Amino acid sequence: MPSDPGLRLANITVTVRGHGETLPILAIPALAIDAGTSIGLAGPSGSGKTTLLHVIAGLLRPDHGTVVWDGSEVSRLSEAARASWRRRVVGMVFQDFLLVPELSALDNVLLPCGFSGFSNRAQRAPAIALLAELGITAPRRRAAAMSRGEQQRAAIARALLFRPKLILADEPTASLDAMTATAMTDLLVAQATATGATLVVVSHDTRLLSRMDRVVHLDRGRLA
Ligand SMILES: Nc1ncnc2c1ncn2[C@@H]1O[C@H](COP(=O)(O)OP(=O)(O)OP(=O)(O)O)[C@@H](O)[C@H]1O
Ligand SMILES: [Mg+2]
Repeated sequence: MPSDPGLRLANITVTVRGHGETLPILAIPALAIDAGTSIGLAGPSGSGKTTLLHVIAGLLRPDHGTVVWDGSEVSRLSEAARASWRRRVVGMVFQDFLLVPELSALDNVLLPCGFSGFSNRAQRAPAIALLAELGITAPRRRAAAMSRGEQQRAAIARALLFRPKLILADEPTASLDAMTATAMTDLLVAQATATGATLVVVSHDTRLLSRMDRVVHLDRGRLA
């Protein structure tokens, strides 16, 4: 086992440049999330929650600072190596889902098979079962024809199918009614518990947040 299993962020800063000036959008001196624990990230719109999730996922390289997963510094890897790490370790529910509209729910869920080394054929039945568990009983409907709540659930299924060790979910219940949101929360927490995954959830949903081991608040890019 690595000395520090889980996530360690240190001295993270992210800035954006525009109109000749540099604006800080994230400044996190330290954040430690132990393996197998869950954390909620809350905060007002524009406070940097999605940016922080993208930094953790290696989708966005910070200007400064380090992201360490299980003792290895992910933020130092090349883009290709980070992509490979992400495919092996991370399951991500994007805030805007990022489904391919012309593909069915099922094909969206199976899409990562090709580059993650899983057999599309072998994952078909588990994917259909997972979609059914999420209430998607017509898995062959095009994503474009699905309601936002159905798209959100398909995005959750895609993130969970390979039982990732690091689950990152950006407002995963934002498009769902209260009952469906509770069911999705149950499923996220149950899978994380069953697989020992580390769970990082951005949310405004107080019921979802109350199920996390702890909650931190972001305010203008800083941990409040
Ligand atoms: N690529 C970018 N270029 C310029 N500004 C950016 C960029 N990405 C993010 N920002 C800015 O950084 C801030 C934080 O954005 P972010 O999307 O992380 O917020 P958020 O907390 O997820 O908000 P929401 O709750 O609305 O999803 C915002 O002010 C946003 O405009
Ligand atoms: Mg966001």
